[in-house]
Amino acid sequence: MTTLQEQFDATVAHSDRIEPRDWMPEGYRKTLVRQIAQHAHSEIIGMQPEGNWLTRAPSLRRKAILLAKVQDEAGHGLYLYSACETLGVSRLELTEMLLAGAQKYSSIFNYPTLSYADVGTIGWLVDGAAICNQVPLCRTSYGPYGRAMVRICKEESFHQRQGYELLTTMMRGTDEQRAMVQESVDRFWWPALMMFGPPDADSPNTVQSMEWGIKRNTNDDLRQRFVDMSVPQAEALGVTLPDPALRWNDERGHHDFGEPDWEEFMAVVKGNGPCNAQRIAHRRRAHDDGAWVREAALAFAERSAEESRA
Ligand SMILES: [Fe+2]
Ligand SMILES: [Fe+2]
Repeated sequence: MTTLQEQFDATVAHSDRIEPRDWMPEGYRKTLVRQIAQHAHSEIIGMQPEGNWLTRAPSLRRKAILLAKVQDEAGHGLYLYSACETLGVSRLELTEMLLAGAQKYSSIFNYPTLSYADVGTIGWLVDGAAICNQVPLCRTSYGPYGRAMVRICKEESFHQRQGYELLTTMMRGTDEQRAMVQESVDRFWWPALMMFGPPDADSPNTVQSMEWGIKRNTNDDLRQRFVDMSVPQAEALGVTLPDPALRWNDERGHHDFGEPDWEEFMAVVKGNGPCNAQRIAHRRRAHDDGAWVREAALAFAERSAEESRA
């Protein structure tokens, strides 16, 4: 007779999926709720910095592209909230935890978007970093999360290319446009590196998450992968990445690079980034404004159920 724990361990060891009906350790469930919720919140809060430019897009074409991209992020949030609900927690509870500061979202979305070049830089670097983080999660041990990631990753790679295409267009434009792109990359490069989380030595949960098959790579591995991927893209674009320590290391077969400002990272995570208060205030306002829609949907569902009983 195998115990439930042994069955769980064997499933994870075979890289098979754990499904909602399966027994799972409470720590595994809690870790997943925290991670998937943080991911869902990031998609939804991440709509704000780019949504900021929707009314000021430079052309109808750019406006249509940006609108579609921001809507995609809303969809990602919905897949992920749904995945999280299979673990026994409701979307409303998750939203309330976000608003109360009990759950986090990615630190990157606490930085402002100051020019239209930021739309391109976010697509290139922020969606690019998200892809590095998320492609391995398609093979994560929890079924609903992994399946959501497959679909999300396809859309994220499209986002990355649209950002790169916008920057390429601007780099072929005027000196002023090129300067806008460089200034934007200067602001976003380091925060993008911070998206992979603290260095492995300061990431106490990584070992357990890897044993459970939730995480497939460490923060530092993924950060390195992102740097190696971004350097040739920056060269092709004609922008300089703002890191004097950045150079190819023949021995390691990777780029060496400087250390992000981890004090800044901790300050942003703790709520003291440039836009933390603004992002949560906006999310709370949207939640309150939507109360009548939730009430109406509930009333409609109750009436439909009553009618079908009758
Ligand atoms: Fe997304
Ligand atoms: Fe995206």
